[in-house]
Amino acid sequence: MSPVSTGTLDLQHRRCPEPGDDLSDYSVLPVPPMSIRFDQAAGTLSPAGPELTRRMSDLEGLFLDQNAWRTAVADGDPIVYSVVSSLVPEADRELPQSITTIQPGSTGGEFWMTKGHQHPNHQGEIYLGISGRGGLLMFDGTDTRWVDMTPGTIGYIPPGWAHRSVNVGGKPYSFLAVYPGGAGHDYGWVLEYGLGQRVWRQDDGVAFGGYFAEASS
Ligand SMILES: [Fe+2]
Repeated sequence: MSPVSTGTLDLQHRRCPEPGDDLSDYSVLPVPPMSIRFDQAAGTLSPAGPELTRRMSDLEGLFLDQNAWRTAVADGDPIVYSVVSSLVPEADRELPQSITTIQPGSTGGEFWMTKGHQHPNHQGEIYLGISGRGGLLMFDGTDTRWVDMTPGTIGYIPPGWAHRSVNVGGKPYSFLAVYPGGAGHDYGWVLEYGLGQRVWRQDDGVAFGGYFAEASS
């Protein structure tokens, strides 16, 4: 029997990425059909791909109250969020997935959050709330939108909208992201243009304020 092929693609000599592989090796190769185990309770994907941990020190310039940020870095530099990915690579035409877990907390009154990014190749993305209570902040340079994210909520990010996730609850907030592998991630865009609004802890609730406003006392 001839090897499996699709058009001009010869799949005989391709193999599945394995944990520990350098995924850049697959940047121009498709991955085969595969099963990816999504463990909702554990917030993991299996087989697992790259993992990323963001500590407070990685979030320089993002919290409005820079003195509070420096104090938090000096006081143990806590993990703010982590990202686990599947083996599907960030490559054009692929459809990677990742689970992000943001720890509960606030710095200078501002809820803990992801760095936020813009996709340089403007493409859409979906987030699915898994556990905890969070929100999806989106900014297109003019308008700001907020989507409450609870387990089962799908937040849709249209092309051209920068986005950030925020944990507004008292427990870890996790969500699944599915996005076009060729979209890219531009974190500098947020440092330059912001995300329209900031998300503040207020009593037991949430308050929004101007992104570049002076830090509240
Ligand atoms: Fe994104």
